[in-house]
Amino acid sequence: MKTEILNDKDAVDIERAAELIANGGLVAFPTETVYGLGANALDSEAVKKIFDAKGRPQDNPLIIHLSSPDEVDKYAYITPLFTKLSRFMPGPLTVILKKRSIIPCEVSAGLDTVAVRVPSYAPARELIRRAGVPIAAPSANISGKPSTTKAEHVISDMSGRIDAILCGDDSEVGVESTIVKLTGENSLTICRPGGITKEMLLTVCENVDIDQAVLEKFDGKPIAPGMKYKHYAPNAEVIILVGVEKKIVDFLNDKKDFGILCFEEDESLLKYKNAMSYGHENNIPEQASKLFDCLRKFDELEDVRTVYARMPVQDGIGLAVYNRLIKAAGFKILTL
Ligand code: TXA
Ligand code: MG
Repeated sequence: MKTEILNDKDAVDIERAAELIANGGLVAFPTETVYGLGANALDSEAVKKIFDAKGRPQDNPLIIHLSSPDEVDKYAYITPLFTKLSRFMPGPLTVILKKRSIIPCEVSAGLDTVAVRVPSYAPARELIRRAGVPIAAPSANISGKPSTTKAEHVISDMSGRIDAILCGDDSEVGVESTIVKLTGENSLTICRPGGITKEMLLTVCENVDIDQAVLEKFDGKPIAPGMKYKHYAPNAEVIILVGVEKKIVDFLNDKKDFGILCFEEDESLLKYKNAMSYGHENNIPEQASKLFDCLRKFDELEDVRTVYARMPVQDGIGLAVYNRLIKAAGFKILTL
């Protein structure tokens, strides 16, 4: 299949992308979190193609993307807590609600719920408006690989597999949206941490829990089915190191064929051949925006069999960075 390369700065190209989606095609598009791989959420046949293009397990439901929180009511049953949460929409927040029957079971993977999100990146909302349908979209990466935060990542993963790629800005947040499930009138559970933090959610909801699968290896059934799969991983094995820079240098002494994912301040680590910084130690949003790009870059290096990563702080959006990194590492953490 020849994949059309479109540009979101060009209204004609957004219109073309919208037309492809409305006609049952697959189009990758930028959002503020990561790039998505979109299809008409009301068209079962189109939605099935998403799973094939990504190699995604069929039991993993998709998020539907809408142009405004006012649209949610058409596809899901809203509640007073949802209305309070909608102050974070548009933005990197996904809410799981009881679905209306118009949403096909291919989207919800047979569940009676549907995940809804309104992206804040304006060209994404323009695309949804012009398509005239909700857009079902997972992250636009081959299943299991790090999510795509730059057009070039999507071109590398998806060319030849989908109808078009709408290229735009690099994703500003850089990690996928926060997913929440409403558990009571004034309580919710974070199933996946992201740009809308626990602290932000606490301003509108009294009780905010974090699902066990976010922080620990969890053999039970997570709320978001996707959390059980190995994720975000480059080809190399990732191991997180806990310890000061000096201890890490000692540890690396007898190692070979490794890469290092560290902070801008780690001068002695950045001297190693395959070292990469994912931002300043105290700039957590910067770490979030660079993490997936760095993980992908390690795959381009020939002699990297293991990536040693410095542990991020877990505050605010740092919880999302930590969650993606421990999943990329398959929960391998070494304390030096
Ligand atoms: O930022 C994002 O959320 C990006 C952009 C493209 O919007 N999308 C994204 O989609 O990350 P995906 O498919 O890679 O991750 C969606 C997660 C999966 O873990 C899935 O299991 C969960 O959302 N999910 C979707 N629908 C659900 C539902 N009805 N109940 C529970 N979890 C659900
Ligand atoms: Mg994904």
